[in-house]
Amino acid sequence: VIILAAGQGTRMRSRLPKVLHPLAGKPMLAHVTAAAKQLGVEKIHVVVGHGAEDVKAAFADENLHWALQQQQLGTGHAVAQAMPAVADDSLVLIAYGDVPLVKPETFARLLNACNTETLALLTVELDDPTGYGRIVRDAENAISAIVEQKDADANQLTINEVNTGILAAPASKLKQWLPKLSSENAQGEYYLTDIIHMAVADDMAVVALNPETAWEVQGANDRAQLSELERHYQRDQANALMKAGASLADPARVDIRGTLSVGEDVFIDVNCVFIGAVTLGCGVRVQPNCVIENSSVDEGSLIKANSVLEQAAVGKNCEVGPFARLRPGAKLGDKVKIGNFVEVKNSTFGVGSKANHLAYVGDAEVGSGSNIGAGTITCNYDGVNKYKTVLGKNVFIGSNSTLIAPIEVSDDGFVAAGSTITKNIPGKNLAVARGKQKNIEGWERPGKKDRDK
Ligand code: UD1
Ligand code: CA
Repeated sequence: VIILAAGQGTRMRSRLPKVLHPLAGKPMLAHVTAAAKQLGVEKIHVVVGHGAEDVKAAFADENLHWALQQQQLGTGHAVAQAMPAVADDSLVLIAYGDVPLVKPETFARLLNACNTETLALLTVELDDPTGYGRIVRDAENAISAIVEQKDADANQLTINEVNTGILAAPASKLKQWLPKLSSENAQGEYYLTDIIHMAVADDMAVVALNPETAWEVQGANDRAQLSELERHYQRDQANALMKAGASLADPARVDIRGTLSVGEDVFIDVNCVFIGAVTLGCGVRVQPNCVIENSSVDEGSLIKANSVLEQAAVGKNCEVGPFARLRPGAKLGDKVKIGNFVEVKNSTFGVGSKANHLAYVGDAEVGSGSNIGAGTITCNYDGVNKYKTVLGKNVFIGSNSTLIAPIEVSDDGFVAAGSTITKNIPGKNLAVARGKQKNIEGWERPGKKDRDK
């Protein structure tokens, strides 16, 4: 696969190279490389030019072959830059870094239609073909050439079948044709599309295939087009979710930036965003305005409105939120309740334990059946190191308590409200660590000062 990604993308009006602009949370180019990988091809070549270093850096972890096109002299010239690294006996699929939504199946169909005697083109019929290269057919309806908009005559301009740019051809032939391209045309460019009449002259068959839908082959030249592609993509994801058994309050108001797997009878309310790999078990309900990233929520759990989960694992039949924040390493057993304005980080909650209101629980183990009162803070950090808080089973932490880690509270331990706990609590003790209340008898409130005196 050769992916063209050297263009500047002037109309994006951006410092970011065009192909790095994100669609569904990842660069447009990453969608194309992902589709190419699914084909099981030998090598993936990317032709870069504008912002080449930034593009390469963004894909440093992927096994891609880079070709540099110093000057953007046309699509044919761009492909030629990658050809030296392509084996003569291979078939080449040409794709584009700014056409991110082509399905792997479409690429595969094109490659399957291509062989040493056949060039396969992906074409599409458009009501308004303005700007595209037109597919010119002869009297027998066989493809004879592609003519660019700017080079087309009045008759050719009426053709509705257009070139998507995506094609598959044998490498040996490309290596013969590309050096013969001329830039004597309206744009002074080396057009890849000129290989079509060369193929016809070489007695090759040129076949046209169509994508399932026209938007699959739409490119993003500006931010408005990119936003259209994003909506198409998200609508597709929403449809797949509904097929998998999830109900969506509004399929237009859920965004998936990664992969979301759902069990049956999941319900997702409006304005939820799913990032990375997220799993929702059967019957999970997610209320409005939740952001769930790289997390799993097991069956029967309820994520209430405005909750944010990141690298969290929620057990079965839990209740989280509203306004809860589960940070990386939050692991909730079954039937746990995490209420409003509770932040949990790198902590485990045993079965049926609760932190219902306004708490920070970090680097803690909370035993089953324990209850963390409103305003409790685990002081896990001394400014340098982090320490653990370990609470046994059925522990009760009264409201507004401060647990200075490292600290341990045994099973059934009880902390009185307003305590600052600095020592471990063994056995079933009650720990009270707060100033004693004094009631001062006969005390009088201060009176107002007389200002004029
Ligand atoms: C091209 C096709 C046209 C087709 C249209 C579909 C040619 C000559 N024309 O036209 O038939 O209908 O795509 O969108 O191929 N690029 C490079 N290096 C270059 C030039 C382009 O990498 O020197 C990349 C661009 O970044 C872009 C893609 O190739 O991703 C297409 O280039 P563009 O100039 O937009 O081609 P079009 O004029 O749209
Ligand atoms: Ca274009």
